[in-house]
Amino acid sequence: MKLELFLTPKDFTPEQIKGKAAVVIDVLRASTTIITAFQNQCRQIIPVAEVEAARNLIALQSKTTTLLCGERHGRKIEGFHLGNSPLEYTLENVRNKTLIFTSTNGSRLLTKTQPATVSMVASFVNVSKIVEFLLKIDADVAILCAGSYDKFSFEDTVCAGMIAAKLFKVLTKKLEFSDLELAAMLLSQKFENDIVKMLRLSRHGRYLISIGFMKDLVACANVDSIDLVPVFYKGVIALPKSDYL
Ligand code: MLT
Repeated sequence: MKLELFLTPKDFTPEQIKGKAAVVIDVLRASTTIITAFQNQCRQIIPVAEVEAARNLIALQSKTTTLLCGERHGRKIEGFHLGNSPLEYTLENVRNKTLIFTSTNGSRLLTKTQPATVSMVASFVNVSKIVEFLLKIDADVAILCAGSYDKFSFEDTVCAGMIAAKLFKVLTKKLEFSDLELAAMLLSQKFENDIVKMLRLSRHGRYLISIGFMKDLVACANVDSIDLVPVFYKGVIALPKSDYL
């Protein structure tokens, strides 16, 4: 298995992910929010890059079963039902609902992953389940970090490193990787026992604390708390029908 890590959405071309299994990471907070929404039984999620496109899309959907969700600058968008805090995505709020979801970096990245064979939504909360899926499908892997406005993001890279390290533990010499993936693996080892501390140090973590979302950091640090892998396919994120995709 060949493993390649891309630190921001501008670092890969469609050609570089074509035919690969893509792992999409936006730890704070889009990936964690999406995975939490599926834990609480949402029906499906439609990721949309722009706010206006999200508003236009909901105009065409059933008002009773569809919610408009997402953030800009970390805060709920005016007129939207939910923001981007995983804590808002409760059973009561999202069960059986279709969510139209737009976030600054995460939803934008997802919409760029169409050339991949499959795109999985990953975060600390489902890291072992992601590794289990990757081992089952045994394809070359592109780990795609959302970053922040096309810049490197510490927490996404640590999560990518944790996935890479778990793959390496099983595959050893059968895993091909370069020094970038090695650096991410070593970084993840430094923080694996205190993810909250790492999130508190990160730039976006500090910003979220400053606008009142410290509890979100704790939720986003809950390693392996959710046993699900949402998959983005043909414009929609859903749970796969079987464990084999
Ligand atoms: C994003 O997509 O950039 C993030 O999820 C922002 C956030 O923390 O709400």
